[in-house]
Amino acid sequence: MPSGGDGKTDPLAGGSKGSSALGSGGAGTTFVPTEGSLREAADGNGRLIGAAVAAGHLSDDAMYKALAGREFNVLTPENDMKWAATEPTQGTYTFGLGDLLVKFAQNNNMRVRGHTLVWYQALPAWVTTLSGDQLRQAMIDHVKAVASHFKGKVYAWDVVNEAVSDSSPTSLRDKDSVWSKLGPSYIDDAFRAAREADPEAKLFYNDYDGEAQGRPKSDTIYNLVKGLLERGVPIDGVGLQMHLDPRYLPPTDGIRQNIDRLVALGLEVNITEFDVPVGQIPGDLAAKFQRQAEIVHDVFKLCVAQPKCSAITFWGVTDKYTWLKDPQFMFRGMGPHYPLPFDESYNAKPAVAAIKAAFAGN
Ligand code: G3I
Repeated sequence: MPSGGDGKTDPLAGGSKGSSALGSGGAGTTFVPTEGSLREAADGNGRLIGAAVAAGHLSDDAMYKALAGREFNVLTPENDMKWAATEPTQGTYTFGLGDLLVKFAQNNNMRVRGHTLVWYQALPAWVTTLSGDQLRQAMIDHVKAVASHFKGKVYAWDVVNEAVSDSSPTSLRDKDSVWSKLGPSYIDDAFRAAREADPEAKLFYNDYDGEAQGRPKSDTIYNLVKGLLERGVPIDGVGLQMHLDPRYLPPTDGIRQNIDRLVALGLEVNITEFDVPVGQIPGDLAAKFQRQAEIVHDVFKLCVAQPKCSAITFWGVTDKYTWLKDPQFMFRGMGPHYPLPFDESYNAKPAVAAIKAAFAGN
């Protein structure tokens, strides 16, 4: 999961020479609230705007359900298509919650981004006991079964998620990932299996802390996907998660350069798990939300300016249910973090007007 850098000095924080960090240019900008939903604004630009959605909340929270359908034209299952949810026992598949999300999306004319086929987390215990050919075959079987089940219903898959190491960001994960037992070829195998199972779905590599050119993890991701393309492995895009930490923002120019170099490889870029926790932003709540809106605005401006940045998805619908409330993920400093565009009572925060402004070219 994303590293927060708590207590660490980030030499790149605040931007590289000659550039500025996200949100630094907009101090005092007021984003004027306008009519209409986020998805109407995105539709007008031919873009997707999404949110991570949980099947459980759709079932037990009518306001959540209404907000998700009204504001977003694509959804990502936050947890319900992960391996632990879909193949808890080897060879026995449980697609009920994923199917529920697909149905909700269809009823609301939304697309579905599948998340995720191969990740080192959210695995059932049985996977971690395997090795060698058995592990590789279990992975290929899982990818094929899940991608086949959702064929025609999921427009894009995060095929491999978070393969790059945090402690050694120029390499793939080692001991912390069961997939290291297979060596780097597991990534090729996963993409090939996904393409075989669903030839129409767009296939993405997805990761965090890889947003800005010049940061080690970004360069590793770039080289990883370049290598896949050179070997003829089917990949269509890169997901930049964009779980930002306002204390260590990536430089604006670095993000733009990174997106551009990925596009130059022939890939699409999607922002896949955007959130801006405000706990460590100074000032009162109004000041925190204003700064959050400026950061959100800059990311949307960057994406809207690049035709191949086709989708931006927030990691949640409302501050009420953000993953950053979970005590096990307290690595962004003290909260509350309120990282999303809609507050705990489902009201639009300044970020909503900022997004619409970016889509309107302002
Ligand atoms: O549903 C159970 C509940 O029954 C139980 O009582 C409780 C006890 O801890 O756990 C609940 O499950 C939790 C689940 O979220 C639903 O809330 C899991 O413990 C918890 O590990 C799980 O966390 C998810 C995490 O991925 C791990 O799968 C987060 O919701 C989800 O937001 C997070 O998403 C990831 C992306 O997939 C990949 N990128 C990073 C991102 C944030 O970490």
